This record gives sequence, structure tokens and C-alpha cells, in this order.
Amino acid sequence: MTFKSKEEYSSRIGRTLITSEQIAAAVKKCAEKIDSIYDGRPLLMIGVLNGAAMFAGELMKHISVPCELEFIQAESYYDSTESSGEVRLTREIERDISGYHVLLAEDIIDTGRTLSRVKALLEGKKPLSVTTITLLDKPERRLVEFTPDISLFTIEDVFVIGFGLDCAGYYRNLPFIAEYKE
Ligand code: IMP
Ligand code: MG
Repeated sequence: MTFKSKEEYSSRIGRTLITSEQIAAAVKKCAEKIDSIYDGRPLLMIGVLNGAAMFAGELMKHISVPCELEFIQAESYYDSTESSGEVRLTREIERDISGYHVLLAEDIIDTGRTLSRVKALLEGKKPLSVTTITLLDKPERRLVEFTPDISLFTIEDVFVIGFGLDCAGYYRNLPFIAEYKE
């Protein structure tokens, strides 16, 4: 996707669903919850690239118990707003995670395919536990049964951009969550 102008790029940023202040407050509250759950236990946060990079980073900044960070990469969207149905892992975790409580961080759960696949894969590596956390959840769109352990915001069935979420690679840098206008 290319843009003819900055105006065309900006014109596709629709109404704001969640402001940066709302995200910041929810992330802080969530970090406190994580602090109380993992108090003193070996915690490894695993973010799902690329979308969850920002969420995982922001969450990490507010966690005060000892916590390590890794990333895994899964791709299910190809240059459009529709899922192809196939989940491809394009980056794996190389280290031994068997001694860790894993906090699997995702940007959004849509059909449920990505996180159920990634969670199953990580469970196969026998960590002490796997807890799933998502910034956004679109439960109406589920095709695979999946409920995250922690969800910060439930949203309606619209394609969203910002705070790590993209459309064809763009708009990840928006500090808020907005609707994408075709
Ligand atoms: P799922 O496998 O259908 O649950 O899709 C999850 C992945 O699709 C997320 O990690 C996102 O990268 C992407 N995705 C789903 N919905 C949206 C959206 O509204 N905006 C941007 N990316 C999305
Ligand atoms: Mg993603």
C-alpha cells in the first residue's frame, strides 16, 4: 500500500475508539495486577510481533517484579483487513522456557486463531504456566474458541489501527486506537 499524500494517509484514520490516556491508565492498572500475581516468581513476557511490540514494551515499563522479555512472530494478515485463515510462525523462541511463568502478550484477538496456535506451541515447551493477555478483544469475530486470561478493552467488530496495530504495515505509530476508514 502506498499513499499519494499525507492527506490521503490521514484521511483513513477514523474515529478514535480508545485514547492514549485510556490506554496508559489501563496498562498501569494491569501492571499492578501482574505484580500481585507474579510476586517473586520467574516471569517471562513473550510478545507477539509485530502488533504487540508496543503493548508489551509499555506494559513492561510498569511491571516492578523481576521480568524478562522475548518475542515470537506470527503472521495471519496479508496486506489487507481480512485474515487469510493461515497462521505462520516467522520467529520462534530459541531459549528454554521450562523454568518460567509465561505471560503471552498480544495486541488484539480477532478470530482467535493466532493466540490459540501460539499458546499451544508455547505450552509444548513445558513452561510453569502460560497466561494470555491482550490489549484488545473482538469477541464477535471468533472462529476458534479462545478466551484470554486478561483483556484490557473489548471492542466492536471494526478494523482498528494504532498503538502497534497496523493496516498493511502503517499506522502502528499512532498513540491511540482508531477505526480504519477504507
Ligand atoms: P486472529 O488470529 O484472527 O485472532 O488475529 C489476530 C491478529 O490479527 C492480531 O495479532 C493482529 O495482528 C491482526 N488483527 C486482527 N484484527 C485487527 C485489527 O482490527 N487491526 C489490526 N490488526 C488486526
Ligand atoms: Mg498481531
